[in-house]
Amino acid sequence: MDLTTTSSTTHHVGALAVSAVAVGTMHFGTAVDAQTAMSCLDVAAEVGATFWDTANNYALWSGVGDESETVIGDWFTSRGPYARDRITLASKVGARPRPGHSDLDHVQGLSARAVRDQVTGSLQRLRTDHLDLLYAHIDDPTVALAETLGVFDELVQEGLVREIGASNLTADRLKEALRTPSGHRYRALQQRFTYLPIRPGADTAPQVVLDLETERIASSAEITLVGYSPLLSGAYTRTDRPLPADYSTQDSRQRLDALRSVADEVGLDPGQVVLAWMNQRPTPVLPIVGVSRPEQVRSAWHAVTQVLPDHLIARLQAARA
Ligand SMILES: NC(=O)c1ccc[n+]([C@@H]2O[C@H](COP(=O)([O-])OP(=O)(O)OC[C@H]3O[C@@H](n4cnc5c(N)ncnc54)[C@H](OP(=O)(O)O)[C@@H]3O)[C@@H](O)[C@H]2O)c1
Repeated sequence: MDLTTTSSTTHHVGALAVSAVAVGTMHFGTAVDAQTAMSCLDVAAEVGATFWDTANNYALWSGVGDESETVIGDWFTSRGPYARDRITLASKVGARPRPGHSDLDHVQGLSARAVRDQVTGSLQRLRTDHLDLLYAHIDDPTVALAETLGVFDELVQEGLVREIGASNLTADRLKEALRTPSGHRYRALQQRFTYLPIRPGADTAPQVVLDLETERIASSAEITLVGYSPLLSGAYTRTDRPLPADYSTQDSRQRLDALRSVADEVGLDPGQVVLAWMNQRPTPVLPIVGVSRPEQVRSAWHAVTQVLPDHLIARLQAARA
């Protein structure tokens, strides 16, 4: 079946126009060497995948946590005077370890002071004067949401940040954040999400998987949903990547069959169908794809520019239900 290509590849986070796929840069400068990472970014900019996702702790488990933002900063400074203007840049604060630590039990967190310090560090590494989207990376229950939202609001007023969002928030904490008076409110929520539902009760902490309740709250509050780890590290397509145990349930075989049947029908691979489905399901979830080679950027871009017919989306929805 020949698919229609969509020209509306632009989605929104508040007032920001963003591309239909975000480029995940978590391994840039560590597992993905700087030169290859720069090539991925070149291709991303060339095709239009201009929504880039980083954090102020990527990837501390393989380095010190400065690497991803530093590579992106190198790209901005080496690709001409307007390079930065072409990109919608998202970074995250809150989950960077305090000096002298290297684990998530000792993070800098989301107090007003810690947020300001961390944003200053990110802007220095990224060599830019603003972040388009600033996320609170993980929840910080030790700090009142009013304090975090207050400093996020100040950063917007000061022009250092354009829009704000959260990541890894439970439904209850999202409700609390929405009830908290603040000048600016969260416009994006970034959770773990893919086609295969995770086994109920799986322990993913500090990561939070998107659930139906959060989906409903976010939709009614006009919060753009963003989903990380959509490809399960390549498990939908690669024999060298077994399905993670938490995603292997009694229904996963049937769901994978549905995915494969749609993929065969439309000439995409199953991972590409996941990406296209995420953007076209009744409640869209914009995928963030981790890339380690320029071809993976092209593959993801191809996927999100294809329109799956309604009956195939319905088939995928039915198999997933
Ligand atoms: N907010 C949070 O707490 C949080 C947590 C995790 C991630 N994230 C963000 O989400 C991004 C993506 O996360 P992720 O790396 O876990 O996600 P993923 O997209 O599920 O997996 C990415 C990996 O899949 C493989 N891959 C990519 N394209 C492929 C293709 N076309 N065919 C087959 N395999 C392919 C690559 O593995 P190889 O490199 O081995 O080829 C790549 O590194 C991160 O970079 C980060 O920006 C956010």
